[in-house]
Amino acid sequence: MKEGLVVAIANQKGGVGKSTTAINLGAGLALQGERVLIVDLDPQGNTTSGLGIDRGTIEYSTYDLLIDELDAAEVMEPTSVRDLFVVPATIELAGAEIELVSMFSRETRLRNALKPLEPEFDTVLIDCPPSLGLLTINGLTAADEVLIPIQCEYYALEGVSQLMRNIQLVQQNLNPQLEVEGVVLTMFDGRTTLASDVVTQVREHFGPRTYRTVIPRTVRLSEAPSYGEPIEAYDPMSRGAIAYRELAREFRRRHGRESNP
Ligand SMILES: Nc1ncnc2c1ncn2[C@@H]1O[C@H](COP(=O)(O)OP(=O)(O)O)[C@@H](O)[C@H]1O
Ligand SMILES: [Mg+2]
Repeated sequence: MKEGLVVAIANQKGGVGKSTTAINLGAGLALQGERVLIVDLDPQGNTTSGLGIDRGTIEYSTYDLLIDELDAAEVMEPTSVRDLFVVPATIELAGAEIELVSMFSRETRLRNALKPLEPEFDTVLIDCPPSLGLLTINGLTAADEVLIPIQCEYYALEGVSQLMRNIQLVQQNLNPQLEVEGVVLTMFDGRTTLASDVVTQVREHFGPRTYRTVIPRTVRLSEAPSYGEPIEAYDPMSRGAIAYRELAREFRRRHGRESNP
């Protein structure tokens, strides 16, 4: 198995399912036998709280990793899922976007911080903020691959070309190995033809890079974070749990990793 695969989950649009995918793909991979680290790179900290980490108890965060050059091993915390760890984010991280501007090696700080830890994990998922600023640049520079969640809604592809341009710039200047590995369709509502049209449109645009697994829009998926649980723990029989389990399987297949039964 290729170890320490780093995947940035990115889309500068907010509310497309980045954090939900980070939490539930991460948990899915961990439950299928991988050792997984999720790095919360969004000052909103939705992934952090969605994994049940209480903001009040966070000692160190992604901010300390980026700005204070703390060891990633000191910053990461276990979650309720075995073999799933998180580097939590606090609102402090919002300041990092500005502080980074004048810092030495400002685009490569996350990459440098994560390097020593990568061999300890099968997969590292970076949950990027909804912007194309220096935080996202750090995420893309630290990554081997990008996974783009796209919401099955009006204007689904809006902004995607801008994201692709930014990815290209990072490839040219900072991280030549970076690949767009996949696109995952989220919040699919089977009752509307619009949603099916978006699926068709995205498949035409991205071809085989589009994941076959489509994540349905379900209330259970939107409830789980307030209980601080991945969907696998909150409601393992739900459609959302089944979909993210399948997404994790597909992810592993696409990376030549054996799937446990
Ligand atoms: N498949 C889904 N079905 C229903 N609600 C979802 C689904 N995916 C995400 N959500 C909800 O939509 C909102 C935005 O999702 P989120 O993952 O936080 O997006 P992002 O990280 O891209 O901003 C959250 O409230 C989340 O709980
Ligand atoms: Mg988010």
